[in-house]
Amino acid sequence: MGISAPANRELVIRIEVALCIVVLSLLLANCTSVHAPVTLTFVDQEWATTTFNEERERELREFTRETGIQVKLLPSPESTREQLALWRELLRPGVSGPDVYTIDVIWPGILNEDFIDLKPYFANEISGVFPAITASYTVDNKLVAVPYDANIGLLYYRTDLLREYGYGEPPRTWDELETMAARIQVGERAKAKKSKTEFWGFVWQGAATEALTCNALEWQAAEGGGKIIEKDKTISVNNPDAIRAWQRAERWVGSISPPGEVGYKEWDALNVWIAGDAAFMRNWTLGYVDSQAAGSPIRNKFDVSLLPAGKASRVGTFGGTGLAVSRFSTHPREAVELIRYLISKDVQVKRSRLLSEAPTRPELYELPEVLGPNPRFALLSQAFRTGIVSRPSNITGKKYEEVSNAYMQAVHSVLTGERTAPEAATSLEKELVRITGFKKGPPARGIIKP
Ligand code: GLC
Repeated sequence: MGISAPANRELVIRIEVALCIVVLSLLLANCTSVHAPVTLTFVDQEWATTTFNEERERELREFTRETGIQVKLLPSPESTREQLALWRELLRPGVSGPDVYTIDVIWPGILNEDFIDLKPYFANEISGVFPAITASYTVDNKLVAVPYDANIGLLYYRTDLLREYGYGEPPRTWDELETMAARIQVGERAKAKKSKTEFWGFVWQGAATEALTCNALEWQAAEGGGKIIEKDKTISVNNPDAIRAWQRAERWVGSISPPGEVGYKEWDALNVWIAGDAAFMRNWTLGYVDSQAAGSPIRNKFDVSLLPAGKASRVGTFGGTGLAVSRFSTHPREAVELIRYLISKDVQVKRSRLLSEAPTRPELYELPEVLGPNPRFALLSQAFRTGIVSRPSNITGKKYEEVSNAYMQAVHSVLTGERTAPEAATSLEKELVRITGFKKGPPARGIIKP
């Protein structure tokens, strides 16, 4: 489970103590043996579900067996913002921090200088990765991280309930989702009489965190409301389509979505969904694993599709992580070896099967061992080419965190009813001009390109 922001400092101390122990044991080992085994420290931002942890431990043991290199895994907090704060602390000069880090796809522009260029080591592997994914980890021609897992916002839906309420397929549009969610919610509550007043049509991530930036970008991009800041550096967020998309989400809060939705982080939505208390959920590819785990009340009662379309397109926010080597690492050679192992075909194929993680190379989607257990991956492979919307992290570089923070706060203030959507959009536009120095203008028209 996640760790809250105030606990970050404590986590850093725990990590620093763990690092000291690693360093001490290495020193001791060095005294007794000429060929002391190298121990790498690795910090991974991925969600710590039990299934995920077990598989990752197994992978690391296998790597040690193959190479003799030990790996010590450090814990990480839940939300992207807390993680970034912790990574920054660990990457301070003088702190003997981890050797290998996973970094969120939105961080290369922020942490660029803290990691070594991996291009010379991975030219071959990189040539087979979806080009849009590699581009996200490249800053000024430097490969800041090697793509590890590809992620995208998806719609989870209850197949049993859709059947029961006469729907042959998941919603194609956001309007359809709204209608279906409302109908199923009324029916399920009536069925359960008084005990099940807590059944909801649609759960998502509405707390003011990076996940809200991802949700809201999906709503507005689908309606033609642009990508907050366009590729040509135009601040486009203050437009009628984005405003309408935010207003629609405001309407969901307390109707098809819980009033507490405005406080929901990743785990909150997932917990309601897994408990069987929602008809639809917006989540990432990894949400599948816990939903389908043995003992899950909704096991075999759900499926996954692309998010619904708006009037312009059908898109999911592009997410995921890459693997990076600290410029302070004293074992860069071994760190590169660990990365090579973690992105290998074998590991990616196993992860796709056991963790529902989407591979980063299109060729892997052709394999029967990937598609067989996960037919929905065919959909993802297409989505990574044409159905993703990227957050404006590459264009805004170091300013991205501030940009995203301003955006999520603006949308959140609409969801809570604190400000109207036009008011929030107007003041957000001003703030983004101040933060970035870019000019304002309309969203780019036409099909959204990643
Ligand atoms: C997922 C995505 C990541 C995103 C985060 C937001 O972990 O992979 O890119 O920033 O969710 O919560």
